[in-house]
Amino acid sequence: MWDSILTLIGRFHPIIIHLPIGFIIIGLLIELSRKKFKESKNILIFIFSWGTISCILSIISGFLQYLQEGLLWESIDRHFYFGILTLLFTFGFYQYLKGKNFFSSLPRRLYTVGLVLTVTITGHLGGQITHGDQYLTEPFQIMMDGELSNEETLLSSSNASEGPIFNSLIQPILNSKCISCHNSEKSKGGLALHNFESLQRGSKNGMIINYENPELSEIFVRIHLPKNEKKHMPPKSKKQLTKAEISILSHWINAGAPENILIKDMKISNELLSNFIKKKERFFPEIEISSPNNKSISFLRGKGVHIAPISKSSNLLYLSSYNYHDFMEEDIFELKKLSNNIVDIDLSNSSFNDEVFEMLSAFTNLTRLKLNYTSITGKGLDQLSSLKNLKIIHLVNTDINSSSIKIINSFPYIEKAYLFQNNRNLSKEINLSDEDLKKFDFGEYITQGLTTDE
Ligand code: HEC
Repeated sequence: MWDSILTLIGRFHPIIIHLPIGFIIIGLLIELSRKKFKESKNILIFIFSWGTISCILSIISGFLQYLQEGLLWESIDRHFYFGILTLLFTFGFYQYLKGKNFFSSLPRRLYTVGLVLTVTITGHLGGQITHGDQYLTEPFQIMMDGELSNEETLLSSSNASEGPIFNSLIQPILNSKCISCHNSEKSKGGLALHNFESLQRGSKNGMIINYENPELSEIFVRIHLPKNEKKHMPPKSKKQLTKAEISILSHWINAGAPENILIKDMKISNELLSNFIKKKERFFPEIEISSPNNKSISFLRGKGVHIAPISKSSNLLYLSSYNYHDFMEEDIFELKKLSNNIVDIDLSNSSFNDEVFEMLSAFTNLTRLKLNYTSITGKGLDQLSSLKNLKIIHLVNTDINSSSIKIINSFPYIEKAYLFQNNRNLSKEINLSDEDLKKFDFGEYITQGLTTDE
């Protein structure tokens, strides 16, 4: 009964917090034009006393939410501290207005500026907890770029500037924004843009590139015309070019619209080019997931198991058995309750045997698995094949054999498996294609490339 009441109060936190925000904002507005009010001081005292009370209620409800919903302290700590700071400034200003105490010896500005800052920061940190880190910055990116970059037109981050400018950068832009109307079958205005030759050939009115005066090129003019002009390209009802795409097309036209010059020789600024390079893929899955079971975390931590979120305000967890090896039934019971949250697990040196695979097959978001120095033989390893996020697996010095390698090789998303064994060389026991071999590390660094002693 009590438990549900506390949970209920906790869940009201997102609503209650609007009270202090409202009081503080109206208070600050009145403070701004306080000359207009006859009784501003009394009004402000009234507002900031309620502000103080509602701040306290917000903090209590927030704290209950943290306790009852099993949020991780690491993910809410800064929000909590700034909440307290907001309370201090609200209460401080209330005391200041009442006069005759320590608070009134400080400058009035301190409170107003402090309140603006603390309310903004607390709110922002709170928003991050519910909506994730990029919630606020994403619309800015859309505003700046016109839209989020189009995945298909992006260069891979490793060799971005090695490719020829036309095929790597220009044609993909034309493909995504122009060729629906300008291709070999349907060439609006007599113009096709599906390859370099057709672009060079131009339209029924002639060339669309002017090599003498690039900026007078038909294509250059069309993409720069205001969107509402009839001749603007692409037509305004269609998906528009982003600013970066317009810049790169312009740069290319100004450079004489070459085909095979390498991107790195095109003198494109890094800032501009960066718009066309794939951001490094996140290693761990980017998913919305409910907060982990706090009681299980406390239980396991109590035994010495290391558990931490993979980053601030993340519900995804890293778990390591570094200081606790002998897992008992009750530990496994609690561990299973964290199965959706754990993405990175290190059970090296632990007492787990092949039975671990059945448990792990329920860890749907597991991305990296370490089972080094355990007695596993690989029996049941195939149960992990359903894990769509499993990218890295470490099985150093275990009892696995070559059939385990085949199984790992069949995992759809595996990127790397570390399989070094002290007394034997597993790579000798199996034939893998060169392509597949790249996924495995048998720890042969020492013997490789050692030729003669000079
Ligand atoms: C929805 C269809 C559509 C899309 C998409 C489109 N165009 Fe066009 N385009 C047309 C039509 C129709 C004409 C002919 C009418 C005109 O000249 O405005 C034309 C004409 C042109 C011309 C003038 C040809 C000439 O010499 O008269 C150029 C240059 C051009 N488009 C470039 C582009 C580029 C570059 C893109 C992509 C960024 C693009 N178009 C996307 C429909 C489209």
